[in-house]
Amino acid sequence: MAPFKPNRVVVIGTGAVGTTTAYTLLLRRRMPELVLIDVNHQKALGEALDMNHGMPFAGGVKLWAGTYEDCRDADIIIVTAGASQKPGETRIDLLRKNISIFRDIIQKITKYNSHAILLIATNPVDILAYATLEISGFDRRRVIGSGTVLDSARFRYLIGKHKEIDPRSIHGSIIGEHGDSEVPVWSLANISGGIELGFDDETREEIYQNTKNAAYEIINAKGATSYAIALALDRIVEAILSNEGAVLNVSTLLNNYNGVSDVFLGAPCIVDRSGVREVLKMPLSEEEQALFQQSAEKLKAEIAKLEL
Ligand code: NAD
Ligand code: LAC
Repeated sequence: MAPFKPNRVVVIGTGAVGTTTAYTLLLRRRMPELVLIDVNHQKALGEALDMNHGMPFAGGVKLWAGTYEDCRDADIIIVTAGASQKPGETRIDLLRKNISIFRDIIQKITKYNSHAILLIATNPVDILAYATLEISGFDRRRVIGSGTVLDSARFRYLIGKHKEIDPRSIHGSIIGEHGDSEVPVWSLANISGGIELGFDDETREEIYQNTKNAAYEIINAKGATSYAIALALDRIVEAILSNEGAVLNVSTLLNNYNGVSDVFLGAPCIVDRSGVREVLKMPLSEEEQALFQQSAEKLKAEIAKLEL
């Protein structure tokens, strides 16, 4: 019998997103082993120590501040390392800084691991997930960006708030770039599987703008976003480790999808232990399709400037 190998998740980057994600995974006991890595090892050590002191209350997770060698036995490696937006900056503004950080990080990971699922959160997430696929040479199913999972949650929350309905009973999708060109799929949004929202154009526009600009609003107020992205990453990890086949709008390499190829974008994907098992076709309206294609063109133009 093969020796038992406990599931291991590695979180790279122990800033606002990485630590909140680690803490969420810990509280939900998603995996028996959790490793924190940061270029600032002292920071990772401090975060691990702080979380470990909670083990008598949380328990069940072996957690430590590690090195890239600890990636060897990892099942999922979540990358949250790199620069984040300052007030007024767009996600694309981070590309120059974060692409060089990614070259370094992905090469270090692949030195020790060629089988894990790489889950990217650092911005601009769609472009960095594309770069990760190129640099790692991993199977496309195992390179996943957090995509518009977070944006779709914001969208559902805002619709639910407007209707005074629990957001879990709201079905709604944001697709495309995790960023300024993201696309709301109003034609398929509904309550409880088919009940119409009944919004006028003005309400739709207000909800879309508030969804799209949510991160700017939060960054202006508190300097970073962390809780909702942590829950979104936790949801993706759950879908993978439990082999759920959940449909989540992660970012994946698209091939002839609604007229789009060779770019990572958020779209409804079946997520299971293999990573992205399949991208589901969406019957978009003509306007939604055009906006989705524009979102793809925007990111492709940025990718073309990179030397990958
Ligand atoms: P932060 O500044 O709080 O933390 C970044 C961490 O990365 C720091 O601890 C830093 O030491 C570490 N780091 C930098 N270079 C590194 C390297 N080469 N190797 C290892 N670690 C390194 O930033 P944050 O608020 O946690 O945001 C992190 C990233 O996540 C940003 O790019 C941000 O835009 C992005 N983000 C994405 C989403 C999403 O939906 N995908 C949501 C929120 C934030
Ligand atoms: C978000 C990050 C900043 O919270 O991308 O949307």
